[in-house]
Amino acid sequence: MTRVERTRVAIVGAGPAGLLLSHLLAASGIESVVVDRRSREEIENTIRAGILEQGTVDLLVETGASTRVLTDGNRHDGIELWFDGEGHRIDFPSLVGRSVWLYPQHEVLRDLVAARLSAGQDLRLEATVERVDDAATTRPRVIGTDAEGRPFEIEADFVVGADGSRSAVRSAVTEGTRGDLFREYPFAWFGILCEAPPSSDELIYSNSPDGFALISQRSATVQRMYFQCDPETDPEALSEAQIWDELRMRVPGTTLTEGPIFQRDVLRFRSFVAPHLRRGRAALVGDAAHTVPPTGAKGMNLAIADVVLLHRALVELLRGGDERPLDAYEETAIRRIWKAQHFSWWMTTMLHSTPDATEFDRRRQLGELRSVIESEAGRTYLAEAYTGWPFETGLG
Ligand code: PHB
Repeated sequence: MTRVERTRVAIVGAGPAGLLLSHLLAASGIESVVVDRRSREEIENTIRAGILEQGTVDLLVETGASTRVLTDGNRHDGIELWFDGEGHRIDFPSLVGRSVWLYPQHEVLRDLVAARLSAGQDLRLEATVERVDDAATTRPRVIGTDAEGRPFEIEADFVVGADGSRSAVRSAVTEGTRGDLFREYPFAWFGILCEAPPSSDELIYSNSPDGFALISQRSATVQRMYFQCDPETDPEALSEAQIWDELRMRVPGTTLTEGPIFQRDVLRFRSFVAPHLRRGRAALVGDAAHTVPPTGAKGMNLAIADVVLLHRALVELLRGGDERPLDAYEETAIRRIWKAQHFSWWMTTMLHSTPDATEFDRRRQLGELRSVIESEAGRTYLAEAYTGWPFETGLG
């Protein structure tokens, strides 16, 4: 027998987008159920990106979703663009009056899971969603199997797909429409976590003749670094010495502080936008709706911008019966999504080398980097996009 339950908003996916949406809805007096196929342990330990835009931090703090970001996170007032053997700092506050925060995504998730559980949120983990039925009606249903293998059905006023790039909700929203927009890149990132003190106070994005590298941080004792690699690279195939050689070669002129590498992974690059973000009473947010390559650090921030918009739209719909903000959701969200797609693509193509790059391509890239760093307008554009455009609420 299939258990049939009711809620106001059924959220598929307990990542940053799904959990933050349930948090904001609860603050607006709207009940939700959050379903995820992963365990709490998996959710809280998935290593993802680490940069939060100023607006994301303000939102997390103001809504009580995370206060640890201010104590355990680190404010970064700039980044360094490294090319031609030299670093060029882009100073965010003097250009745009904002900063970013280094606070890893799994820490955001720990804060959100703790906040939701202590508020009594109905959080169904290790439950698999198979599909969403009746998205075009006022009674959409989420159909799946719970942690014990029993079938369930959740009937809701609204269903949200916050379930990542392999979304089970997406087809109910995009049904019948073709035209996924995507681009694959001929490279990936080899990422490491190592036990060492920081090599730099701020992030270094490096374009070198041997390819891209990013020197990031995690804490006083753990660092995160990446270098461009072939997408087919086996993360176990390189020795620690080879990894350090690759990294050192790509940021010539800096000294990297080395230490034992305790995690390695290969991140594939993909840009994607779903052809639709909403159909009837179902909508997509975050990676279910779009993915960006990690170079611009936009992934989680873009997911949160979607959530801010959808939350306002759901409050108007479910508390006031006003469909207009929901009708505007896709159009409003998509504008920011394409700006972020462009920025992520731009940072990616400006900093990486492609396997077929000629000397012309390489010199043109250096010309592009020089145009950015030598122009206040260029630096300001980068700072504006990196620290994040203001959130829209879709109201007024
Ligand atoms: C990270 O620290 O993991 C990180 C930082 C900046 C990026 C991507 C990843 O652009």
